[in-house]
Amino acid sequence: MKRIIVSCALACMAALALVSGAAQAARPKIGLSLPTQREERWVRDKQAMEAEAARLGLDLRVQVTDNDAARQVAQCENLIAQGIQVLILAPHDASSASVIVDMAARAGIRVISYDRLVMDSPREYYYISFDNVKVGELQGEFLVGRVKKGNIVVLAGSPTDNNAKLFREGAMKFIGPAVKKGDLKIVMDQFVKDWQPAEAQRIMEQALTANANHVDGVLAPNDGTAGGAIQALAAQHMAGRVTVTGQDAELSAAIRIVQGTQSMTVFKDTRALGRKAIEMALALAQGRPIATGGRTVNNNKHAIPSVLLTPRVVTRENLDAVLITSGYLRREQVYRPKP
Ligand code: BGC
Repeated sequence: MKRIIVSCALACMAALALVSGAAQAARPKIGLSLPTQREERWVRDKQAMEAEAARLGLDLRVQVTDNDAARQVAQCENLIAQGIQVLILAPHDASSASVIVDMAARAGIRVISYDRLVMDSPREYYYISFDNVKVGELQGEFLVGRVKKGNIVVLAGSPTDNNAKLFREGAMKFIGPAVKKGDLKIVMDQFVKDWQPAEAQRIMEQALTANANHVDGVLAPNDGTAGGAIQALAAQHMAGRVTVTGQDAELSAAIRIVQGTQSMTVFKDTRALGRKAIEMALALAQGRPIATGGRTVNNNKHAIPSVLLTPRVVTRENLDAVLITSGYLRREQVYRPKP
C-alpha cells in the first residue's frame, strides 16, 4: 500500500514538473536593453515594464548599459544568445544601435525601438514613443509665450539621441520666428553630452558669464538639464527669475515647479509607454500584428511603423490634476517646506 502511495506521489510530481516545464517553455522570453538607471524616468520605465511583464506571465530579461554604446551591443548579443523572441531596445547611440537590430534580425528576433528611435537601419522593426516633435513644440511655445523679449539659452540633449534632434526641431518652430522678428536672441546654443545635468550647468555658467547674467529664458530639453541650468542660475541668485522648460515630470522637477524655480515640464506617462511596449512585445512573440494606424517615423533609411503617445504640458497650475491625481507623484513628496 505504502509503495503504491509513494509511486503515485512520484508520478504526480513528475506530471507536475512536466506541466510547469511546458509552461516555462511557453512563456515568451523578452529582452529589454535600457540606456541608464541613473535618471528617474528610466527607473520608472523599467518598473512599468517589469510589472506588466509579470502580469502577462512573460519572462523579461533586463540589461542596463550605463550610457555605453559598445556595452549595449555586447549586452544585446548576450540577450540574443539567451533565446529571446523579442528585443525591446532603448538605444544609447541611435546610429550605432543599428548593429544590434541587424544582429537580432539575423537571429530571427523581432525588435521594438523604445522611446528613442534606432537610426540608419535598413531592417524592419517597430517604434514606440511619444510624439517627440510635439514635446519640443510644447517647450518652445511655452518659452516664447513667457519670454516676450530678451536673451535665451538653447540647450539640446545628447547628440547621439535622435529624440534630442526632434525636441529641438519642435521647439525651433516657435523660437525661430521670434528670433527672426528680433524679439529673442539666442546667446548660447549647445548639445549636452549624455544629457548630463553637470554639463548643462557648466554651459549655463558660461552663458551667464559671457552675457553679464542677461539671460531671460532657457530651453532645457529635460528635467535633468533643467536642474543643472537652475543650479547655475541659483549661484547668481537668479533662480525663479528666469523661465526654464523641462520634460519628464521627475519628482525633483515637480518640487522646483511648486517652489517656482522651474517653469514647466512635459509629462510623458512612462506607465502607459512601458505597458504598451510589453503588449507589443507579446503580440510579436505570438506572431500577431500590431496596429499603428499608418503612423511612421523616418530612420534616415526608411519609414518605421510607430505607436506615438501624447505628451502634456505641466505647470504649477495643473500639476496637481495631471501628476498627483493620476497617482504619478505623491502629494507629500512634491509639497515640501522650502529648505
Ligand atoms: C527621453 C527623455 C529623457 C532623455 C534623457 C530622451 O531620449 O525621451 O525623456 O529625459 O532621453 O534620458
